[in-house]
Amino acid sequence: MTKQSYSSVYDAWKADPDGFWMDAADAIDWTTPPTRAFDPDAGAYGRWFPDAAGNTCYNCVDRHVERGRPGQAAVIYDSPISGKKRTITYAELKRDVEAMAAVFLDKGVQKGDRVILYMPMIPEALIAMLACARIGAIHSVVFGGFAAHELATRINDSTPKLIVCASCGLEPGRVVAYKPLVDAAVAEATHKPDAVLVWQREEHRADLDQPHDHELNTLVEDAEVRHREVPCVPVAATDPLYILYTSGTTGQPKGVVRDTGGHMVALAWTMKNVYGVEPGEVFWAASDVGWVVGHSYIVYAPLLCGCTTVLFEGKPVGTPDAGTFWRVASEHNVAALFTAPTALRAIKKEDPDGKLAADYNLTSFRTLFLAGERADPDSIQWAERALGVPVIDHWWQTETGWAIAANPVGIELLPVKLGSPTVAMPGYDIQVVDEGGQPVAAGDLGNIVVKLPLPPGCLPTLWGDDARFRRAYLETFPGYYQTADAGYVDEDGYLFIMSRTDDIINVAGHRLSTGAMEEVISGHPAVAECAVIGVTDSLKGQVPCGFIVLKSGVTQSHGEIEQELVKRIRDQIGPVAALKLVVTVERLPKTRSGKILRGTMRAIADGETYRMPATIDDPAILDEIDAAIRQRGVGRQAAG
Ligand code: COA
Ligand code: AMP
Repeated sequence: MTKQSYSSVYDAWKADPDGFWMDAADAIDWTTPPTRAFDPDAGAYGRWFPDAAGNTCYNCVDRHVERGRPGQAAVIYDSPISGKKRTITYAELKRDVEAMAAVFLDKGVQKGDRVILYMPMIPEALIAMLACARIGAIHSVVFGGFAAHELATRINDSTPKLIVCASCGLEPGRVVAYKPLVDAAVAEATHKPDAVLVWQREEHRADLDQPHDHELNTLVEDAEVRHREVPCVPVAATDPLYILYTSGTTGQPKGVVRDTGGHMVALAWTMKNVYGVEPGEVFWAASDVGWVVGHSYIVYAPLLCGCTTVLFEGKPVGTPDAGTFWRVASEHNVAALFTAPTALRAIKKEDPDGKLAADYNLTSFRTLFLAGERADPDSIQWAERALGVPVIDHWWQTETGWAIAANPVGIELLPVKLGSPTVAMPGYDIQVVDEGGQPVAAGDLGNIVVKLPLPPGCLPTLWGDDARFRRAYLETFPGYYQTADAGYVDEDGYLFIMSRTDDIINVAGHRLSTGAMEEVISGHPAVAECAVIGVTDSLKGQVPCGFIVLKSGVTQSHGEIEQELVKRIRDQIGPVAALKLVVTVERLPKTRSGKILRGTMRAIADGETYRMPATIDDPAILDEIDAAIRQRGVGRQAAG
């Protein structure tokens, strides 16, 4: 067989998109196979595989047990933070998923019901996701670093029948008790789940003191449950598999809906073509099941393809050292690792010469993939030197579920250009347009948009809010999906992602809304107005910094109020928001129409040269902000 080239594959998709995806759909075992790829008249921009049905859990688990992989490791749980390791074969995974599914059925969960999972990186998180998929329930995983209020927002929006949580998560030097957070969230939410199922971990046992509380460990160990066969429920390809909330421009997160059929087809295609990983090989995404990377590349894609997935509960540094990633890659014969650039920066800081990798046998290790934030050239080059393998940046979003742009090593390794996630993947017609929606010239900065329809696997809508979906993504540039990223395409067709066009910031690869933080800060009785900006940080990429103006007559000390606000963000959004600094100023810089000049404030904090905004109300305020920024050391850690 002749080796394919990227351009031949991309052109084949462009010439016949339906044929391309129908071919890709052959990788899936359907209960009702698709007779056509796309219905342009359904949904907001059409729907994929409109007449097909199947089950994601069957494709991830059962078919591998039935067809030659029962004894192969499906999941390797490696937890340096708890000192535990466990290998789960495909046959064992099926048994565990069936038991969990039986428990959910016994609690009254039916096809289409929602189940919230608030879980750390333990096998039961992945098992619970697959158990939902098995019975046609829709899971919504909430990241453990979010606080009770964020959980309550998601409970109200997704109205789950059940909440499944663990008794605790483990952070370096700290046990995070989840149950009090769940209790507070349920108390705050207007929707009440029927039951809360708690997986007790030995590091910390939760008090099961509410009438709706049950211990999940004993429920799944029950002999009757343990031996019950729970069939996979066929669902329409257009039925939702999950909802994953992601930051929007307000405190109300967006419930990204992932459908069943398109998701399976797209992810199965990526494993081979984007990541170059074959069935039976070991794939490791060092993310968290609470993020989209965790959904797509810890759980679904590797299992769909009969790979072994690594579930790593730890940090790139400090658990126990900066060699942990290389130890895990070596011990489990990892073929490809996917992580965020911030993890590399953390490792590089402790091991600048990249010596620790040399302690491990990495002969199976072929490729390092990076995504989640801009990959800084320095970190890419450091990793290339330390590991001696290609380091591949790729760009995508919670909304798309898989890479919009990548270097498809499974098809052809294209020359790497530092700072670029390379080229558009089949399915995506990427264009760069100006504010009026007109294409800009190669090399010119503009709004990055994708010509509709989006490919299989991308969101068809937001949960329960078609109008918001259309408003947020489809209306600004008619006929296109608005990515809310700005950047350019060079003369070779390579894409460069430069910034967001909204108020989303990226903190240690985590997507956060400054608008949501401003809502929390404004809720403090002493605050008259505020602005939160993302300041460049050498480790986390960006960190949030709050600026506040106090109401007149406030007598409480500035320092005390600022500390209260730091705590307020931690308590209401969660520790992951990582807001450590709030600065009190006399006034905020604004345009004459009253819009706060956040971009200019960010430029000042990052020490960038900036143009005086023509519409600024009072230029003198910028000097005051500059002085406050210097005095408080904002942006001191700017990337060097
Ligand atoms: N549950 C509870 N708390 C959590 C949490 C979780 N799942 N994840 C993070 N937190 C807490 C941390 O403990 C920290 O708390 P602290 O303020 O008490 O120290 C806070 O949230 C901020 O976490 P983080 O931004 O991750 O910073 P860190 O200093 O703990 O670690 C890195 C820095 C670079 C090591 C870490 O961010 C990292 O591993 N990043 C990889 C990014 C990643 O995987 N992104 C996913 C997208 S691909
Ligand atoms: P999330 O939805 O959490 O995956 O965040 C998506 C956002 O992260 C994108 O819209 C980008 O702003 C940013 N992002 C993700 N990957 C990259 C990348 N490879 N380069 C630059 N920015 C990225």
